[in-house]
Amino acid sequence: MQLTSRSNSETLRAGGVELPAGSWVLLLLGAANRDPRRYPDPDRFDPWRALLNPLSFGAGPHYCLGAGLARLEGQVAFSRLLRRLPELALAGTPRRRLRLTLRGYDSLPITVGEPVPVADLDAPAGTAPGTP
Ligand code: HEM
Repeated sequence: MQLTSRSNSETLRAGGVELPAGSWVLLLLGAANRDPRRYPDPDRFDPWRALLNPLSFGAGPHYCLGAGLARLEGQVAFSRLLRRLPELALAGTPRRRLRLTLRGYDSLPITVGEPVPVADLDAPAGTAPGTP
């Protein structure tokens, strides 16, 4: 989600700019998350980057209600996917979807390789994969 918007009921100043009451303001969350004053080398994808309150889920009273669920789903889905498909790899040039607010891909060619059997993923800790 790249942006959201707000309308101010009273005149206010933000970032040195006066916004008359009733202005419609676009807030570029994606740009804030790549602010080089906050994130060194901001265009480098680094999932281990220290989280300095990114605006991916918004902020304040309208902070995303589903943030906890979305984070949990991401942790479960990506760790499971990578354990099940350890050979998962890009197999072509991704094509971006032409959308402004909700970014994504129209096509993302991949190869999946040999999947690890589900039974091996669920083996109790300390059990060798494939052990009956
Ligand atoms: C990666 C997934 C998600 C992202 C990046 C995301 C992002 C956001 C952002 C940026 C806002 C704030 C919008 C604003 O201030 O104008 C928001 C609000 C909201 N999100 Fe999410 N969201 C995600 C998943 C979810 C899920 C899974 C749910 C529900 C199960 C959810 C429910 C909501 C609701 C109800 C609001 C409005 C809260 C309010 O206005 O008080 N979101 N989300």
